[in-house]
Amino acid sequence: KHVTVIKAPFSGGQGKSGVEDGPEQLLKSGLLHQIESLGWECSVADPLEGLDSAKMKANVEDVYERCKRPQMVSECCERIYKAVETCHQQGSFPLTVGGDHSIGMSTITAFVNAHPNGGIIWVDAHADINTSSTTCSGNLHGCPVAFAMGLDRKNWPPQFKWLDALKTLVKPEQITYIGLRDVDAGEKKILRDLGIKAFSMYHVDKYGINEVVRMAMEAVNPSGENPIHLSYDVDGIDPLYVAATGTPVRGGLTLREGLFIVEEVANSGNLAGLDIVEVNPSLATTDIHIVDTVNTGLSIAKCALGDTIL
Ligand code: ARG
Ligand code: MN
Ligand code: MN
Ligand code: MN
Repeated sequence: KHVTVIKAPFSGGQGKSGVEDGPEQLLKSGLLHQIESLGWECSVADPLEGLDSAKMKANVEDVYERCKRPQMVSECCERIYKAVETCHQQGSFPLTVGGDHSIGMSTITAFVNAHPNGGIIWVDAHADINTSSTTCSGNLHGCPVAFAMGLDRKNWPPQFKWLDALKTLVKPEQITYIGLRDVDAGEKKILRDLGIKAFSMYHVDKYGINEVVRMAMEAVNPSGENPIHLSYDVDGIDPLYVAATGTPVRGGLTLREGLFIVEEVANSGNLAGLDIVEVNPSLATTDIHIVDTVNTGLSIAKCALGDTIL
């Protein structure tokens, strides 16, 4: 039982600074101690260490067609890919802490390269499946799923060579969503055209979270025997509980619904990796916002690592 906490203090996939402080906040608030008290051995990886921080700052010149900061996103994502790949090779559980969600392109591609039959559950208010051609914002944190699937790759910024060179990319039947409520028109078309199963807040209300999680696991892991990676954008949970995040959308998961997803996937025995992203302490207007948001992140980690049964 070994966890590697991979720090991804990265904000270049979107325009708001502060999300790069997410990992430090979670660590400062006791993430490692919490993991160890659940009986796991734990180490920390810092793949972005030593990167030139001046270069990491939002750079107006770093634009390729619609995509903002492709050089920086590609360089950081390649390093995170390698860190997650190492975990899978060594049999350590990768817990990647962001940072913005652009790094999801690394964690899920590293996962499917190690576990070609694995399934991915993406918990988010957003589908993050814009391509370099459909993105309206130009923010690459809205694009990681499309990149990980190789969509529109002829229009990729030239920097993404490491991704282009991967043997395995994510297939449409390998991924599903829970919590969607703010999906761009271009993204809806992609989801429909590729037949990607998605459970929006409408489905959570209609069927209840228990049934939604069951259907999501069945969608990406029909045999029940394959590993599952959970990519958790904290904005999937309602801003009532998670205020300190860059793109909050009302009408989200309750805190308990959000945690139940994690508990249930962990209970299946198939959970093989987790991302916790988009915690941005600087977007809080009160200290309570920071505490609420950071504690939600800690609870997600705790549920993932087995703190379910009384
Ligand atoms: N769909 C919007 C965009 O592409 C918002 C994406 C928000 N993504 C996130 N990881 N919070 O810009
Ligand atoms: Mn693995
Ligand atoms: Mn989101
Ligand atoms: Mn996201």
